[in-house]
Amino acid sequence: MELRWIPFGSPEYREVVELRRRVLRIPLGLDFTPEQLAGEGQDLHLTATEDGNLSGCLMLSDHGGGVVQMRQVCVEPNQQGTGVGAALVRESEAEARRRGYRRMMLHARDIAVGFYERLGYERVGEPFVEVSIPHQEMAKAL
Ligand SMILES: CC(C)(COP(=O)(O)OP(=O)(O)OC[C@H]1O[C@@H](n2cnc3c(N)ncnc32)[C@H](O)[C@@H]1OP(=O)(O)O)[C@@H](O)C(=O)NCCC(=O)NCCS
Repeated sequence: MELRWIPFGSPEYREVVELRRRVLRIPLGLDFTPEQLAGEGQDLHLTATEDGNLSGCLMLSDHGGGVVQMRQVCVEPNQQGTGVGAALVRESEAEARRRGYRRMMLHARDIAVGFYERLGYERVGEPFVEVSIPHQEMAKAL
């Protein structure tokens, strides 16, 4: 597996958006708006590939005050459960540390809370609804 930080707007980024659309949005009957995607130019985009094929991705957004938010974590359905997600999260933590961030936070879908707990994230506050499904804020000191 190869982990790579890719430029916003690149051909690789367009593949990322397609994977995110297929795994995270279409199952909910939703899509990204052009405005949402245009706003991602400030974010950092990480991919995992296997033999050049995209197997997973995530992005990091500055949250201010030394905090960075991990967003849009997703793995190609036929490769889920094979360590891709954990590798993406670990690399994003290493990059956030290199950039001087002190804390990682995220909004976990209910079904993914256990995945983040295994990686050392703790629940913060009460569950809430986002993109029509239950979520839990989680965070980890870097
Ligand atoms: C959730 C997701 C990102 C996890 O990535 P993954 O590559 O499937 O997970 P990994 O294979 O790296 O799993 C790492 C560990 O977490 C566990 N795990 C994986 N998904 C889990 C889940 N949903 N709940 C609890 N534990 C989970 C694995 O069993 C593994 O445990 P181990 O270290 O004891 O072997 C991925 O399954 C996915 O894209 N799901 C659909 C989209 C989604 O829900 N994204 C999260 C949005 S917040």
